[in-house]
Amino acid sequence: MTLAITPGTFDPITYGHLDIIKRATSIFDEVLVAVAISTPKHTLFDIDKRVELAKLSIEELGIKNARVVSFDGLLFEFAKEQNATAIVKGLRAITDFEYEFQMNALNRQLDYTFETTFIMSPPKYMYLSSSIVRELASLNADTTKFVPPCVSEALKKKFS
Ligand code: COA
Repeated sequence: MTLAITPGTFDPITYGHLDIIKRATSIFDEVLVAVAISTPKHTLFDIDKRVELAKLSIEELGIKNARVVSFDGLLFEFAKEQNATAIVKGLRAITDFEYEFQMNALNRQLDYTFETTFIMSPPKYMYLSSSIVRELASLNADTTKFVPPCVSEALKKKFS
């Protein structure tokens, strides 16, 4: 039984994240979408809403074998507790690579019992980020190309 963890802030979850999650489910038996409770970023949505939107989005897209949970503390400790086979991250550009390379090196120094695997984002999602989506929504722009309907509705409510 292989278990992958796809961690993130998911503020909010986008089609870019969902593409990575779906593709991870075709490689691993189970995917745990781990939503970070504490983050240095000031989030638009609180933890309950970020988890709820991730769950609804996965349902809306009919992604099987993916579960959403929240986590706190260090990612590598959470991955160990869950007995994860791998942490899966999406790579969009070279800038992501540099950051992920550093995180991977750090995890290896701490206590490394799992692999870190990268899935490359397709060109249509390479430019996408949660902050771009938040900015579009704050300017009352249509976000339906970038996020599932439940997220786009939540964004509309937030900025109305
Ligand atoms: N599609 C679309 N957007 C993507 C994406 C994808 N495939 N992959 C990443 N992104 C975007 C996110 O939308 C986010 O955008 P934003 O900054 O504009 O909001 C940005 O890339 C960063 O993603 P985020 O979800 O914040 O992840 P992160 O790589 O910064 O890491 C955790 C978040 C939770 C995994 C990380 O902070 C963590 O591990 N925290 C636990 C504590 C810990 O162990 N820290 C490390 C050691 S100190």
